[in-house]
Amino acid sequence: MSDTQPSSTSNMDSPELRTPAAEVAPRHPYFPYLTGQPALVTGANSGIGKAVALGLAKAGADVIVNYVTDPASADAVCQEIVAMGRRAVAIQADVSVEAEVVAMFAKAVEAFGTLHIVVSNAGLQRDSAFDQMTLDQWNKVISVNLTGQFLCAREAVREFKRRGLDLKVSMAAGKIVCMSSVHQQIPWGGHVNYAASKGGVMLMMKSIAQEMAPQRIRVNAVAPGAIRTPINTAAWSTPEAYESLMTLVPYNRIGEPDDIAQAVVWLASDAADYVTGATLFVDGGMTLYPGFSTGG
Ligand code: BGC
Repeated sequence: MSDTQPSSTSNMDSPELRTPAAEVAPRHPYFPYLTGQPALVTGANSGIGKAVALGLAKAGADVIVNYVTDPASADAVCQEIVAMGRRAVAIQADVSVEAEVVAMFAKAVEAFGTLHIVVSNAGLQRDSAFDQMTLDQWNKVISVNLTGQFLCAREAVREFKRRGLDLKVSMAAGKIVCMSSVHQQIPWGGHVNYAASKGGVMLMMKSIAQEMAPQRIRVNAVAPGAIRTPINTAAWSTPEAYESLMTLVPYNRIGEPDDIAQAVVWLASDAADYVTGATLFVDGGMTLYPGFSTGG
């Protein structure tokens, strides 16, 4: 082996970098990019949505914490935000129900005067072998993950256009961040409804971005890979499952919800003012076809 070749026993193979423990993930401070820019996050009472709500607040935003069940968890997120000196309001709404989404946006504007940032995060899985999948399982996933994002984006655009550009606050009239998934690109057997919903999010996001760019409304997506949240506990909660998951993740660690929050905050900020219609993959390389690193 020459000196320039990577050693197969580098410290990147050390056990602590392969452990499921959360504390190995890097932590990065937030900068006050978003002061004066009220935000709404759907599904903000747990998992990625909770981390995004807290990240936006750390970056200076007041936050509407949307939830559909478990009001106590939404209140707990609000309390954390208020403790940072920001405002927070929990609003219950099922994103797949038009009247509830319209009412939520009206309450949000009443509370904060306007919204500058909307993060369409609420999503779920109803997994099944394809030939066993019921129409209810299909419809549930499409209605929350795709129709819910349509309804929230439409209400967001209506509010951004009503208020118009306010250059003292932001270079854009409004920012929408759609929560997609690596499965907008990676086919996923056993999860056909979920992959179809995220593939739909991708072209819906790009089409809205194209149509709304002249209004200075930016629309982007974050596509998480395997992130440590309740939606995929089975994929990381035992050492065997974690080891198997890592065969799909070249960066060799599971993602943490804060990895996603950092990306959302950047996309929502003026630091990303020339970025629209983009999907930012935050996946430790899951979309890099890791099987081809030795084969092919
Ligand atoms: C899914 C998770 C899954 C991950 C990577 C996400 O979109 O919600 O369940 O672990 O993609 O496959």
